[in-house]
Amino acid sequence: MKNEIIIAKVEAYIYKMFHSDATGHDYYHMKRVAKMAKYLAEQEHGDVLLCELAGWVHDVADDKLTKDPEKAIIELKLFLASISLSDDQINTIVEIISTVSFRKGQDPKSLAGKIVQDADRLDAIGAMGIARAFAYGGNKNRPIHSEDEQQKQHATIQHFDDKLLLIKDKIKTPTAKRIAIERHTYMEHFLSIFYNEWNSDAYH
Ligand code: ADP
Ligand code: NI
Repeated sequence: MKNEIIIAKVEAYIYKMFHSDATGHDYYHMKRVAKMAKYLAEQEHGDVLLCELAGWVHDVADDKLTKDPEKAIIELKLFLASISLSDDQINTIVEIISTVSFRKGQDPKSLAGKIVQDADRLDAIGAMGIARAFAYGGNKNRPIHSEDEQQKQHATIQHFDDKLLLIKDKIKTPTAKRIAIERHTYMEHFLSIFYNEWNSDAYH
């Protein structure tokens, strides 16, 4: 099967699975991660096809998104075999997505693993990261921000200090690092304006 046809079939599989998600893990997140993984693989001399495919399927076995991650992996393997990928290719894809999807926090060993993890993390920062964080917070009934100490801990704006502002230092590949620094700077700018507007007495 030609590469373009393989990718089109994977895209259709992922569309079916994620098109109605409203937690920031929708089909377009998968698409952005796939395209970013492809770009990073080209720049970093990784396996372009496998990085793009792993980008498409990287959240398939995330325990936030599926009740049964093991079953999701079995089904994914069957699907990938049905579109004529070899056992070696399938095992590589599953290994790549394991540190993104179900062995979170562990460091990927391969270059392809680093690329896909970087691509996923890049989508959590910058303008898209800001949009996804507030979408996720809204979906979980979290406040934007609060003046109440207790509520403040659960507010989405807190997630920037807890996680999003730390991402740029966790990026592994040089190409992704450059993109992360730009996106980080943009988030800092957003946060400074956010707090200015929040604190402004001028309109009270
Ligand atoms: P992954 O991409 O590995 O699934 P997460 O589930 O941690 O990573 O994050 C996915 C998206 O959801 C990110 O854009 C992240 O900012 C957002 N998110 C996760 N937890 C929170 C939270 N507590 N508040 C706001 N946004 C969150
Ligand atoms: Ni993701």
